[in-house]
Amino acid sequence: MNNLILAIDTSCDETSVAITQEHKVLTNVISSQVKIHKKYGGVFPALAKRAHQEKIDYVVAQALKSFNFPSDFVAIAVTCGPGLAIALEVGIAKAKELSLASKLPLIGVNHMEGHLYSSLAQNSKGQPQRKLVFPSLALLVSGGHTELVLIKEEGKYQLLGATLDDACGEALDKAAKILKLGYPGGPIIERLAEESVLKKQKLTINNSSFTFNKPLKEKNNLNFSYSGLKTQFLYLVNSLSQKEFAQNLLILSSLFQEAAFEQLIRKTKKAIELYQPKCLLCGGGVMANKHLRKLLRCLTKEQKIPVYFPFSKKLVTDNAAMIGVAAWHRYQNKDFIKDLANLDRVPRLTF
Ligand code: KG4
Ligand code: ZN
Repeated sequence: MNNLILAIDTSCDETSVAITQEHKVLTNVISSQVKIHKKYGGVFPALAKRAHQEKIDYVVAQALKSFNFPSDFVAIAVTCGPGLAIALEVGIAKAKELSLASKLPLIGVNHMEGHLYSSLAQNSKGQPQRKLVFPSLALLVSGGHTELVLIKEEGKYQLLGATLDDACGEALDKAAKILKLGYPGGPIIERLAEESVLKKQKLTINNSSFTFNKPLKEKNNLNFSYSGLKTQFLYLVNSLSQKEFAQNLLILSSLFQEAAFEQLIRKTKKAIELYQPKCLLCGGGVMANKHLRKLLRCLTKEQKIPVYFPFSKKLVTDNAAMIGVAAWHRYQNKDFIKDLANLDRVPRLTF
């Protein structure tokens, strides 16, 4: 085997180590901390750091189990940011240690570039075969980011729009909290919204109709905003009696999800019209959502461009395989960290 990259991501609440070969994912080990953070309703940074420290050696060993390290490898890749500073540090320290011991070059990767490349990842047989064409547009929707990025050429990006306040995934998580549903909220909201559609539910609050605002509708830019929707939702839910709350739980989930996605579709449509990309790449945890995928398939069909999603669920939420895949073009360009001592985490790294 050749051209193997060992990739590490500890940007948030998953400790992940992967082995990739160009765009092929050979192994993608993920140790999730969801159980640890659940009772806090969100990620508790100090506990995230401790869990990464406790797990990292085991996850590296699991990933390398059936590979010849370092002889078959050409590089080590690690997420430098964006993410939680004290979580990122754990992965970076391990990557430096492995790079020094093995003399393999180290590649620093932007976590969001990883999400951008996640839909170009292939299985071990090299499927699906997707080529990055230029310009392409990426819609990245996660717990910390909501971004539209123009890919002008390999490694050349223009951030077209980003959220001005909360991220879309964060808003779904907060809406789930308002509905007392648990963490992470995105998948729970999705399940209840599906049930609501199946049951053809309608909002049953006396004498009132309710519609969400359309954030930044009059603004002629590609930014997003979610804090207004969240506040509107909080007021609506607080105005309900216990009985109304119980009766409307499913439809409330569905309404919020619909409002959150309306904005994604509206802005992505505008970006396609303005920049005429040849393809839409979708990445980030919220892309696990089947309803969102359906809306994006509709939009791209109408706009006559292909849309790519990661081929497996493990590649959608945080994982190291996408970091290894994103590192491949940097490896080809010999874009290595020159001085290991100078590599530091960049919690607010942008495109
Ligand atoms: O990309 P990711 O794993 O981590 C970050 O880099 O932030 O994204 C996590 C986010 C969370 O907000 C979670 O609620 C959301 O992705 N998410 C979903 C679904 N699965 C995860 N949102 C909607 N529907 C889902 N099925
Ligand atoms: Zn992420």
